[in-house]
Amino acid sequence: MIYFDNSATTKPHPDVLASYTEAAQTYFANPSSLHRLGGSAEQLLTACRKQAAQLLHVGEDEILFTSGGTEGNNLAIKGTAYRKKRLGNHIITTAVEHPSVLETCAELESQGFKVTYVDVDMYGYVAPEKIKAAITDETILVSVMHVNNELGTIQPIKTIGQMLTAHPKITYHVDGVQGAGKVALDIKESHIHLYTLSAHKFHGVKGSGILYKDENTHIAAQLSGGGQEQALRSGTENVPGITAMVKALRLAMEELRNHPAKLFELKEKLLGGLEKMDGVIVHSPPAGAPHIVNFSVPGLKPEVLVHALGEKDIYVSTKSACSSKNSDASAVLLACGVPDAQAESAIRVSFSYENTQAEVDYFLQILKETLTHLKKVMR
Ligand SMILES: Cc1ncc(COP(=O)(O)O)c(C=O)c1O
Repeated sequence: MIYFDNSATTKPHPDVLASYTEAAQTYFANPSSLHRLGGSAEQLLTACRKQAAQLLHVGEDEILFTSGGTEGNNLAIKGTAYRKKRLGNHIITTAVEHPSVLETCAELESQGFKVTYVDVDMYGYVAPEKIKAAITDETILVSVMHVNNELGTIQPIKTIGQMLTAHPKITYHVDGVQGAGKVALDIKESHIHLYTLSAHKFHGVKGSGILYKDENTHIAAQLSGGGQEQALRSGTENVPGITAMVKALRLAMEELRNHPAKLFELKEKLLGGLEKMDGVIVHSPPAGAPHIVNFSVPGLKPEVLVHALGEKDIYVSTKSACSSKNSDASAVLLACGVPDAQAESAIRVSFSYENTQAEVDYFLQILKETLTHLKKVMR
């Protein structure tokens, strides 16, 4: 099996699963319970928080455990909008964000907030000057993703953060879901106030995430309940999931530190092979993230290619998993000005540190054979 759909989700690492099982068996008590078992679950939770903070170079009090990327983005955006609505009603984001950002913004628009969706260039880059130009006296939030989930575009997060320091009223949120463990980013140096992470994108277990919240940034809770996580995210903490996530984050960051070129080499090999194939158009930016390659074969339905590759036990995706069930063109590619025929036929290959050069070689060989076969059938 060749699994090249790591931006949709990753396979949990065996050591991560071992940590999950141990925590679920031994530290099953509610961390809020007063008895000894509750106390040991709480101690484990505190140790996880400390390690997550160390890995992200932030304070322990700045880590809020959530259920994943969608919740983190909702909490960051709605939490800021509702908390700051007396200061202004304007939000700035980009046209190429994940649906968990775009749909949240659309919901806020229906409640009277104003949202500017800043446009992007042909590779999905947003220019910091365009963000700057969109700022008004009413602006309370800027939300920009670190790495685009369809193209791999790396946004100029630090430059935007530096620019925003001149606007203390504005909270800066970054959706870091696709970047974490793949593309280095210093949260503090980038002047980020809210930063979303999701465990299942870096070999953790589904259902865990982190929302980093700068200690001087205030948001409104979106769940009412027992007051866990500084009363900003009520609900009994998922101790095994959190333990597994922190382990997975450590492993991913170690990989990034020890083998910084590995993903780039896989991408180079893939791009080299795609270049030689007739009718293949690559959309990902040359200087994009090392783990995502998006390409089209105009005239070919991407579902057909995905299924044909699936027959050979090779797994890739059309656009992003969240929107791949409807067969419209990719909204991200359309926002980049890619023609309809290409935006409708996009395929995404996404790597993780578990993939190998041999897998890329085999993938290229099978892709070539499959395309030749499909073109013949279509003729
Ligand atoms: C950029 C981005 N943000 C947010 C999410 C949502 O994360 P989750 O699946 O953990 O809710 C995803 C998932 O694909 C994503 O790619």
